[in-house]
Amino acid sequence: MTLNDENPSLPELLQLYIDSGADEAIGDEPIDRTLLADKVMAFPQAAAAEEGGEAYVPGNRPLPAMPATLAVPKAPPPLDIGAAEAMGDARLLAAGAKTLDELQAALQGFKGLALQRTATQMVFCDGNPAARVMLVGEAPGADEDRMGKPFVGMSGQLLDKMLASIGLNRDENVYISNIINWRPPGNRAPTDSEVALSLPFILRHIELVNPAVVVFLGGVTAKALTGSSNGITRLRGKWLEHVSEGLKSPIPALPMFHPAYLLRSPAEKRHAWADLLKLKAKLKELGIIT
Ligand code: URA
Repeated sequence: MTLNDENPSLPELLQLYIDSGADEAIGDEPIDRTLLADKVMAFPQAAAAEEGGEAYVPGNRPLPAMPATLAVPKAPPPLDIGAAEAMGDARLLAAGAKTLDELQAALQGFKGLALQRTATQMVFCDGNPAARVMLVGEAPGADEDRMGKPFVGMSGQLLDKMLASIGLNRDENVYISNIINWRPPGNRAPTDSEVALSLPFILRHIELVNPAVVVFLGGVTAKALTGSSNGITRLRGKWLEHVSEGLKSPIPALPMFHPAYLLRSPAEKRHAWADLLKLKAKLKELGIIT
C-alpha cells in the first residue's frame, strides 16, 4: 500500500505500518531510536551521568570533554529505556564477572544485542588464557559463527602465519577474542551501538586475562579501545597504553591492520610486517620470548 493522500485516515496509516512489517505496538509513546543511538554511543558519559552512574570510560584514555551544549541539551531526546537499560546491564554484568568463565556466562545471559538472534552461536575466545599476548579482533564472520571460535576463516589463517613468523601461536602463547561476540548478519560492519554495548565486556575480558601486551586488530577495534577518531592507518604501529578501571597498571597496546584488510590489500603487508617486528621487539624486551 502507498499513501497518495496527504491526510491519510488512521486506519490507512495503520495498514501502511502493517504492510511495512511493523506489526507490534510496544509502547504508548513513539521512540526515536536514531536519536538515542547518537546520545548513548557518541557521548556515553552523558548517558551514564543521566542515569546517575559513573562516567563511562572506554579503554585507554578518558573520553574527550563533552561540549557543554551537548552535556545539557536544550531539547533532550526522549530516553529510550530499552537501550539505556541494555547499557546498564552490560556494565553490571561485565563488572560482576570475576573469572573468564563468569564473563562468558554473563555474555550468554546478556540480552541487549539483536545480533544474538541472528548468529548461530556466541564466539568468545581461542588460545591460551594464560598467554601474555592478547589479540582483539572485530567480530566473527561466517566460519567463526559456525565453529564458535575467533579467527578460524581465511583471515584467521593469515593471522596464524603472521603470528608464527615471530614465534607466536594460539596453542601456546597467544589468546584471542573480538570486540563483538556474535556475527553481524551478512558480515556487515558492527554498528556504533553494537560496539558500545560490547565494550564493557571486552574491557573486562582484557582485565581478566591481564596480558603483558594487547594487539588491536583493525580500525573498529582500535577506535573502540583507544577512543581515537583516527583511522587504523594513523593508529597502527605506534605503542599506546591501554588502561581501564580494573587494571592495576597500563598494558602496552599495539594497533595493527586487520588480516582481512591485508588479504584485500596485500601491498599493506609490509606495514604489518614492520608492526610484527615491533611486537616481537617488545616481547623480547619484556622477556616473553627469547
Ligand atoms: N575477523 C575478526 O575480526 N574476528 C574474527 O573472529 C574473524 C574475522
